[in-house]
Amino acid sequence: MACLDKQSDDLVFFVNGKKVIERKADPEELLLYYLRKELRLSGTKYGCGVGGCGACTVMLSTYDPVVKKIRHHPANSCLLPICSLHGAAVTTVEGVGSIKNRINPIQERLAKCHGSQCGFCTPGMVMSIYALLRNHVKPSMEQIISALDGNLCRCTGYRPIIDSYASFAKEQTCCQLRGTGQCCLDQEELGCSSSAGIRSGLCNPAEFLPVDPTQEFIFPPELMRMAQEQQGKTLIFCSKRTTWISPSSLKELLELKAKYPKAPLVVGNTSLGLNKNDCDAYHPIVLHPLRIPEMQVVSITDDGIVIGATCCLAQLRDILIETIPKLPEEKTKIYQALLQQLRTLAGEQIRSMASLGGHVVSRGSAWDLNPILCAGKSVLNLASDGGKRQIFLDDQFLAGHKHADIEPKEVIVSVLIPYSTKDEFISAFRQAERQKNAFSIVNSGLRVLFSPGTDTIVDLSILYGGIGSTTLSARKSCEKLIGRQWNDQMLSEACKLVLEEISLPPSASGGKVEYRRTLLVSFLFRFYLEVLHGLHQMVRTGQEQYSELSQDKMSALGVLQSGVPQGVQLYQDVDPGQSPQDPVGRPIMHQSGIKHATGEAVFIDDIRPVDRELSLAVVTSIKAHAKIKSIDISEALQVPGVINVVTAKDVPGKNGNDEEEAFAKDKVICVGQIICAVVAETLTQAKHGAKKVKIVYEDLQPVLTIKDAIEHNSYITEERKLEKGDIEKGFKSADKIIEGELHMGGQEHFYLETNSVLVIPRMEDKEMDVYVSTQHATDVQKLVASALNLQSNKIMCHTKRVGGAFGGKITKPSFFAVIAAVAANKTGRPVRFALERNMDMLITGGRHPFFGKYKVGFMKDGRIIAADFQCYINGGCTKDESELVIEYIVLKVDNAYNIPNLRVRGHACKTNLPSNTAFRGFGFPQAGLFVETCIVAVATKTGLPHEKVREKNMYRGVNRTAFKEEFDAENLWKCWKECLDKSDYHSRNAKVEEFNRKNYWKKKGIAIIPMKFSVGFNATYFHQAGALVHIYLDGSVLVTHGGIELGQGIHTKMLQIASRELKIPLSYIHFCETSSTTVPNGKYTAGSVGTEINARAVQDACQILWKRLDPIRRKNPKGKWEDWISEAHKKSISLSATGYFKGYVTNMDWETKKGHAFPYFLYGAACSEVEIDCLTGAHKNIRTDIVMDASFSINPAIDIGQIEGAFIQGVGLYTLEEIYFSPEGEQLTLGPDTYKIPAVCDIPEQFHVYLVPNSCNSIAIYSSKGMGEAGFFLGSSVFFAIRDAVAAARKERGLPLDFTLISPLTAERIRMACDDIFTKMIPKDKPGTYKPWAIDIS
Ligand SMILES: Cc1cc2nc3c(=O)[nH]c(=O)nc-3n(C[C@H](O)[C@H](O)[C@H](O)COP(=O)(O)OP(=O)(O)OC[C@H]3O[C@@H](n4cnc5c(N)ncnc54)[C@H](O)[C@@H]3O)c2cc1C
Ligand code: FES
Ligand code: FES
Repeated sequence: MACLDKQSDDLVFFVNGKKVIERKADPEELLLYYLRKELRLSGTKYGCGVGGCGACTVMLSTYDPVVKKIRHHPANSCLLPICSLHGAAVTTVEGVGSIKNRINPIQERLAKCHGSQCGFCTPGMVMSIYALLRNHVKPSMEQIISALDGNLCRCTGYRPIIDSYASFAKEQTCCQLRGTGQCCLDQEELGCSSSAGIRSGLCNPAEFLPVDPTQEFIFPPELMRMAQEQQGKTLIFCSKRTTWISPSSLKELLELKAKYPKAPLVVGNTSLGLNKNDCDAYHPIVLHPLRIPEMQVVSITDDGIVIGATCCLAQLRDILIETIPKLPEEKTKIYQALLQQLRTLAGEQIRSMASLGGHVVSRGSAWDLNPILCAGKSVLNLASDGGKRQIFLDDQFLAGHKHADIEPKEVIVSVLIPYSTKDEFISAFRQAERQKNAFSIVNSGLRVLFSPGTDTIVDLSILYGGIGSTTLSARKSCEKLIGRQWNDQMLSEACKLVLEEISLPPSASGGKVEYRRTLLVSFLFRFYLEVLHGLHQMVRTGQEQYSELSQDKMSALGVLQSGVPQGVQLYQDVDPGQSPQDPVGRPIMHQSGIKHATGEAVFIDDIRPVDRELSLAVVTSIKAHAKIKSIDISEALQVPGVINVVTAKDVPGKNGNDEEEAFAKDKVICVGQIICAVVAETLTQAKHGAKKVKIVYEDLQPVLTIKDAIEHNSYITEERKLEKGDIEKGFKSADKIIEGELHMGGQEHFYLETNSVLVIPRMEDKEMDVYVSTQHATDVQKLVASALNLQSNKIMCHTKRVGGAFGGKITKPSFFAVIAAVAANKTGRPVRFALERNMDMLITGGRHPFFGKYKVGFMKDGRIIAADFQCYINGGCTKDESELVIEYIVLKVDNAYNIPNLRVRGHACKTNLPSNTAFRGFGFPQAGLFVETCIVAVATKTGLPHEKVREKNMYRGVNRTAFKEEFDAENLWKCWKECLDKSDYHSRNAKVEEFNRKNYWKKKGIAIIPMKFSVGFNATYFHQAGALVHIYLDGSVLVTHGGIELGQGIHTKMLQIASRELKIPLSYIHFCETSSTTVPNGKYTAGSVGTEINARAVQDACQILWKRLDPIRRKNPKGKWEDWISEAHKKSISLSATGYFKGYVTNMDWETKKGHAFPYFLYGAACSEVEIDCLTGAHKNIRTDIVMDASFSINPAIDIGQIEGAFIQGVGLYTLEEIYFSPEGEQLTLGPDTYKIPAVCDIPEQFHVYLVPNSCNSIAIYSSKGMGEAGFFLGSSVFFAIRDAVAAARKERGLPLDFTLISPLTAERIRMACDDIFTKMIPKDKPGTYKPWAIDIS
């Protein structure tokens, strides 16, 4: 649409104190992309594009000329249209502080407290807290936690982030033991241990910069003047396609709405904006009603509170928090219910953007406020050019019935939320996949009105979200219940009626059908009890008092809410004799920590656009298995801006590697496989072009699940098998034998930085620079060279840092690089290929889903004497790392247990799913959970305490694994005993039991898990590493090595090592980038050993240099380093050295089934306690104690960070993260909206990590141990604690205790395992009689 009959206005806003004037503002342009591409402010990151991760958080400041107030709030810039910013001041992380100017205490504390690892989420974290502190100089800890609700971090496990911001809280304490009223140094364990060389805490708050609010940007006076002057002015911004109109009065808005009835009102754009990926979904006219005073009104009337439709949900929350205490309690029931939902709805950014009007009108199925607004009889104040009217926000409106809906010409001006009355009760419930920042699976708003002074129902409303396409009402059921008394008979009748009226088909989108049905009645039951409890509490003069609920029933009330997390970290201090300059063993801050926090750390997609750069979008298969009949690119080539389409035919050399094609050629083998790529001037054009490519397929039969693969004999590799002892004999002598299974889902890596590559052809010799986010630069180099038919010496790979990888960027980035390189080769232009989150999740695989069958023979005393294990993984469509993963499962399945007669067989299944790959732990998280499941099964059968069965079977002393590798289990027992002791396991176990006796509907569980973990790889050459160290004439040192910074702090440790070896301060040493030009043939950075093997190479290079300097030093022992260097140069001594590490000697012979498969073992134990809500399946992590045998930690802050981060990722795998595939093999979970990784709300309220002192490891450098992966498996302690709680519930309900649970133990699985009258009530669907929404691939 052209720009109506008017010229476009200038869009004026400020960014970081600087004025921005956009003369041709495009209404479709979103702030994130504008900041990054137009303003070159790349500190604000793209993590998902759908408001779910918080990486793109900025602060918006706006001025209201009517009330003359400035409002600051956080916002997701990925959803913010730039046109909504006219008159606003935007602050990005660059504006908060920078190394060039001055860093802000928020940035400094986050870095110093080790709150950043890869650093990709860090700017978003900084901005969320910055916005909070602009509004609350001394926030409470609850406010701090709530400010971080909308920010995801995949690396740190959040504890250090919370710690760093705790220093801003009003409840100030001196250390991490906040809230205990005690200083850590007063604690007995620490008091005595300080003399034993144990330190606590990883940073020193005394070093923090003071907060100085006077240094913040002031709101630009020019914008205040502008807001004042333009009060009556209509603002219009238009592009070729869209016109954005911001009217200044209600009258004008209504005239516009009459003229353009189809034009949406964009307020927060959090609902409308989610369709932006659809190139065809656009609106020619958009109305922006944010300057209309009537729509911002907040007034307290005789009937209730009137809230303007453009008020955001955070404002609504704040109004309610302020108003509720001022009103009589009986009037506030609906407000309390709203407040409860608002506490968990989305993150603070979305709450600050999303409007009440937008929420009401968009009527999403899972929107949380509509059920309560409806139950509470809210009224919508509507206006159109024809006048004003009021309608009820009732079920008819929510169902979108024409007679009850708003007219296209109408707008909602405000919403009247009425007061409740004395005889009325209103409650709201929601259950989501994650406690916060997750859409409800089911929510509910319930209200009952009694005849005064009685419990006779006069009016009843029952509404549910998450069931149909919008909120549903059980209207008929309610009508039938009018006149009934509030008693048990009424409840059972109500449940029956509701289940008849609110039906959910077995194939319903979103799955979890039986669970959702159960929640309908579970919520109803909770409401019933809440009302009974409320009736009891009512003082009814002259009338009989309602009796109080029994203790059992009381336990059904209340939702589980996580408190403020607190952490303690204990580790061995350095030797008192160590030189203060020597940084080894100290908690040194991440080398890039400050840059992460200021947004100055450059990731691949932050690299400035280069001359003539093109963007690339891929076309992927929509079929799981099919022949490609034809590819028609003609229409794509017609799209303006599209330069070319690249297919397999354009690959001059090899199209991928021996196992996998880069571009599918004749056949597709999974949904998401790349078929071709469109290159265009902009990403939008490339995406548009990609949609126009037409592919004709001929379907072939797909194999999707492990079960299918077994049936079709579809395997990637031959069976891997290990045997120890004589299992047949073992089974014969066993007292009992049990058999069982474990199914375990996969896991998405969900690194915050999606796969990105920038390929720049050089002018000469066909050379090419490849900037790539990878764990394996050598593989990228090799594949790109072979695809282009070049020698590797023409391909220069560069990786400065990677925004999280976790194994997911070992093999996959090479293919993305090939695609970009082939496009660059064809077009002769640089090509950028940064995957959007949904594409990254669609194309790349993740952790292997697992299926295990066990047969275990054991004695009455709990000793396992024989076990036969069959392990299967779903490898997906190509080999990738599946062979190694299944080998590691077979090698590691014993975990900490000595099973004398053991047979393990492993199979990697080949299916038509995206190829699964390496993932932190590399098979051990599956293998460990499997063997622990067997232990639990034995404990259940014998009736012995679980920890006793574990102890009975744990390795002792010097031992051999099934493949005959020798190890000493002494430290296993050390960790175990310390963990029992530190967690106070036995007394807490007794308390858990006591709690469970008293609470029928809530149960606690506790579990302690031991761990034997092996690091590294089963072949020597995997451990080789190289380094290059230069000393320059000014004495400064440049260190490079083949390892890649993934957030694990590899370079920081490397600098510590170089500092020790060269005996110079850290400030002399710099690391620039990992590059195939400086250190060739680097192996992948993975397997927990990336740091230590490269450290050996760096050490080698430094020692060579140190030796070369020997004669100079001897001659001038008192001289300074600079003098020695200058002298060495004069003496023609080379100041550059390469270092090399050949690798740990490891091997595994699958023929003889013997080997020294791993360089060394490390040990640990974790104890976790949880509480579950049996009615909803929600759980809360109460406390975790981790004890780890880290030997001598080169950097305890980094190692503890790895342990905590890995642990929380493990908690995600075992309790939260679920990938869904359709029956056609298409992944359905493609973003943070559907796939939930742990957020701040998921970490244990008490999180203690203890590194066992005085342990050594002669194999690794400085006697250290690799900590990258080990903590992951310990997350299973939460799984088993939940299982313990479920078992308590089942025991009380008289249900069998030998139940099996599937991982992850989500709310759905917990609820359904706590079988009760409600799960029995619901209709069940016979498998095979319907097509499910999703299939189980494990
Ligand atoms: C990441 C994320 C997480 C979320 N989590 C939750 C959650 O946990 N729980 C939950 O309940 N919701 C959640 N939401 C949804 C959110 O509540 C809604 O998207 C939001 O309330 C819509 O408001 P908006 O101002 O952004 O609407 P917009 O997207 O701006 O507009 C939506 C629609 O409303 C219409 N509209 C807006 N105002 C008016 C008006 N005054 N009169 C007439 N029509 C109008 C527009 O024309 C448009 O069609 C989430 C959203 C996101 C993006
Ligand atoms: S990129 Fe905006 S929230 Fe993820
Ligand atoms: S540090 Fe948070 S995602 Fe990496």
